[in-house]
Amino acid sequence: MKIEFLENGVYNKIKEDEINHFIMENKEMIQNVMHGTIGIRESLGWLHVEENTSDEVITDILEIADEIRQNANAFVIVGVGGSNRAAQSVIEGLGLNKFDSTIKIYYAGNNLSGDELQTLFKELDNKQVYINVIAKDFNTLEPGIAFRMFREYFKTRKVLDAKNRIIITGSYGKGQLYDLAVKEGYRFLPFPKRVGGRFSAFTSVGLLPMAVAGVDIRKFTEAAVKCEISNHEVSLQDNIAVRYAVIRYLLSKKGYIVENLAFFEPLLRFYGGWWLQLHAESEGKCRQAILPILTSFSEDLHAIGQYLQQGPHFIFETFLNVMNRNNLFISKSEIEDRFWYLDNKDYDKLNHAVYSATKKAHTEDGIPVLEFRADWADEEVFAELMYVNMICTYLTSVFLGVEPFNQEGVENYKKNLYKELGKFGS
Ligand code: PA5
Repeated sequence: MKIEFLENGVYNKIKEDEINHFIMENKEMIQNVMHGTIGIRESLGWLHVEENTSDEVITDILEIADEIRQNANAFVIVGVGGSNRAAQSVIEGLGLNKFDSTIKIYYAGNNLSGDELQTLFKELDNKQVYINVIAKDFNTLEPGIAFRMFREYFKTRKVLDAKNRIIITGSYGKGQLYDLAVKEGYRFLPFPKRVGGRFSAFTSVGLLPMAVAGVDIRKFTEAAVKCEISNHEVSLQDNIAVRYAVIRYLLSKKGYIVENLAFFEPLLRFYGGWWLQLHAESEGKCRQAILPILTSFSEDLHAIGQYLQQGPHFIFETFLNVMNRNNLFISKSEIEDRFWYLDNKDYDKLNHAVYSATKKAHTEDGIPVLEFRADWADEEVFAELMYVNMICTYLTSVFLGVEPFNQEGVENYKKNLYKELGKFGS
């Protein structure tokens, strides 16, 4: 594995023995989770990565992605929640949308702001556009209505091959996107039946947009497969997904009910968004559930940092000690600016220093701090982080006694929204 999990920063609140003891006491339950025998079976299709990443699936995706990269310079992902966050976190986290001049990736159908959509349409003018509409249930308002607006957009701009420029990733069945794709002649990729949105990183849902943006999806999926294998090979005591879940749970029992994911590379905020949704939507179904929050250090150290360190102690932290690569160098200045101590240093040193300084200050003040570390962000690191967190949230949910794979609260708000907008019946 490329990622390391460091837990010594929580020994100010939990002893190593306590963690090992919990694992031994709950061995059977943990093993059942590893083998996917607890929870809704129809939602466990993500556990075995190869179930959705056969050579045929990957080859198909790569062919479509190649075609898009040859014929377009703008690619819009139309989807919300689990339908776009995995792709966004890897694409943006690797910096591909900044440096790849072949194609620019845009996001739509992830909010209901008319202003945003209008701005996007303006930005797309004079561009060669392809869109990928992604929705497991084709009744979610945000992507559904954005898709209609895009059909109209293609029509008013007289895009003759619009049909070819719309790729659908959805479910089979009546009223679902498959129906529409067949009727209108759009290309269709299946949203695997046994995989929910927030667990769909290693399926066509995440993989097509990633491939279009230039992510090496073979490297990404192969790393997830390796992570799955190692998840079974190592002992429960040495399994980082298990240790992460157990520590989170034990901390929450001690009153640490907020987890702050702190990252030091601003582009990792999209990974943070994926992480937040995964844990919040899977676990947030009982009074004891942990609230996940995000901070971008060092910027947020000048804002919420004080509260995190010396405010009431109900927050623990997980540091994402993963930096992107660069070759910035700080040369000596002819002007005396009082930063002489940084002369001739790599810029990287600053971000690494803020990480060590903050970890020391926060742990010394009694804040439990966990850490995921890797030398830099690449496809393998994202795959490992994602697979480990998916196992972790499954485990944590089982410890809490909640069902990780549904989101009934969200469905309730959706019902109210439909009513508000005058939708009756199905
Ligand atoms: O993780 C989930 O299942 C949800 O967050 C969904 O991804 C989200 O609600 C979007 O649903 P759909 O893909 O059906 O539009």
